[in-house]
Amino acid sequence: MKICRTTAECRQTIATYRQAGETVGLVPTMGFLHAGHMTLVQSAKARADRVVVTIFVNPTQFGQAADLDSYPRDEARDLDMLRAAGVDLVLIPEVAEIYPEGDETIVETTRMANMLHGLVRPGHFRGVTTVVARLFNIVQPDLACFGEKDYQQLQVISRMTRDLAFPIDVIGVPTVREEDGLAMSSRNVRLTPEDRAAARVLSLSLDQAESWSNTPRTVEGLSAAIAKVINAEPRATLRGLDIVDAETLDEISGPLTTAAAIMISAEFGGILLIDQRVIEP
Ligand code: PAJ
Repeated sequence: MKICRTTAECRQTIATYRQAGETVGLVPTMGFLHAGHMTLVQSAKARADRVVVTIFVNPTQFGQAADLDSYPRDEARDLDMLRAAGVDLVLIPEVAEIYPEGDETIVETTRMANMLHGLVRPGHFRGVTTVVARLFNIVQPDLACFGEKDYQQLQVISRMTRDLAFPIDVIGVPTVREEDGLAMSSRNVRLTPEDRAAARVLSLSLDQAESWSNTPRTVEGLSAAIAKVINAEPRATLRGLDIVDAETLDEISGPLTTAAAIMISAEFGGILLIDQRVIEP
């Protein structure tokens, strides 16, 4: 496995893949990898000849410097996991490699970045699209994999890719879950055992929404059913519950007529967790 710290080195190696006629799949990450990240690597491997993973804790998507500084890092462990998974190239750039002249040029999906989770994290999605656009230009992959867990991020990146005519297939990969259904996240280890047990209520509420068969299935009915399940768990504080058009993220109401994304965020002992599910009408 080739480890590159500069974009020039990374491009040189990718050029040799291209000369051999090989396709390239990209998996952008911020490191501290878990099984959720590794499923993206497997998806990329199944679709492309070569897999490139980036590990870069992107400063422009963090609101507060404290969050950025406390972001967990374990490069040696990450590299062991990626080597074992058969990754071809890992790019681990310093901030100055990605932003050599600062962030004068930004990329923003104007509407989609400033709704839903974007309202509580101003500037977050602008930072994500800015770094992903730079990574797309450095690696120039045929496809790139992103988790459905971060549903708004996936839709924002898909839209940016279409709008800027990047010739890259954006692949959404289903959420990897713990045995009890909790979506895997590096935040889960910060939960107390009691809150960890209570957090299963998120996926449980989505299961119930999906199997909820009252007709007609209305946005309002689904929303009330989900809130009831979450509010019945005393350790959970519901922070956000949105049912939106699965592609545009626009608010919808009344009977379901198109695919809808249910996006939930809830706090457990001060730790904010998110989950999502796409349901068909
Ligand atoms: P990070 O949080 O490291 O996540 C990297 C990728 O792993 C994202 O596409 C995310 O959706 C996916 N992922 C996380 N948990 C998952 C799970 N349980 N199942 C499936 N996929 C999961 O998201 C970012 O980094 C950054 O914003 C990035 C896109 C790298 C830009 O900086």
